[in-house]
Amino acid sequence: MNKSARFFEMKRRGEPIAVLTAYDAPTARAEAEAGVDVILVGDSVGANVLGYASEREVTLADMRHHVAAARRGAPDAVIIGDLPFETYGGPEIAIASARALIGAGADIVKFEGADVAVLKALTDAGIEVCCHLGLEPQTHADKRLKGRSAQDAARLLADAIRLDEAGMKMLVLEMIPEEVAAEITRAVRAPTIGIGAGRRTDGQVLVITDVLGFGARNFRHNRRYQEVGRLMRETAAAYVRDVHDGGFPAEENLVHMTPEELDLFMA
Ligand code: KIV
Ligand code: NA
Repeated sequence: MNKSARFFEMKRRGEPIAVLTAYDAPTARAEAEAGVDVILVGDSVGANVLGYASEREVTLADMRHHVAAARRGAPDAVIIGDLPFETYGGPEIAIASARALIGAGADIVKFEGADVAVLKALTDAGIEVCCHLGLEPQTHADKRLKGRSAQDAARLLADAIRLDEAGMKMLVLEMIPEEVAAEITRAVRAPTIGIGAGRRTDGQVLVITDVLGFGARNFRHNRRYQEVGRLMRETAAAYVRDVHDGGFPAEENLVHMTPEELDLFMA
């Protein structure tokens, strides 16, 4: 209960909040051991590990499956679960979907957009909610910067304030200019978590597969700390080579019968 209080406190103290996505148990465990503040089981699981063409293909069953895996890997972590496309079109369906994610192990649920009625219904049902503004991948086909014009920036700010007044507990700001994110961060009580939103949010979130360097593509907003995609290909290739030329298994990988066992077996 009240998993978000700690992050309001971090905002107050000016301590940056580090959020990373995770979709499976070993990754969630590694992130928890690394001291991540929040694990986000995002619907980015669809494109990043399920092989879907878009976030829109991700189902509530998919999200439950991955939230549960992350929870098994990180029993004590604060976990946000994404409500996937078309599972929060009204208060009733949103509450049912949120309870499904919470049942699977989420502490906080996240949805995209500025639907205050849905937020109020979830909050009244005792559910902690992280909102998500700026680039909303489920609705925006163009994965580009948002909120650059004065008019768009003013609307984002107004939406953020309305959601804040309705009780959001956290706000992801995706792909907006640093100045807009800074103004929203100043205007709302809830901690803001940026991705491609500059340095002046209360925290940052990145996608673990981007950070690890899985895909061929990189993004300006990302910091690619490793080249795990290349490592996986090299590792698989080394194994295949060893099997094909008889180098695996080796003596250290196998077990022999004792001479007595062998005699009995061959008798
Ligand atoms: O699904 C996701 O990974 C997200 C983050 C990019 C905020 O929503
Ligand atoms: Na998402």
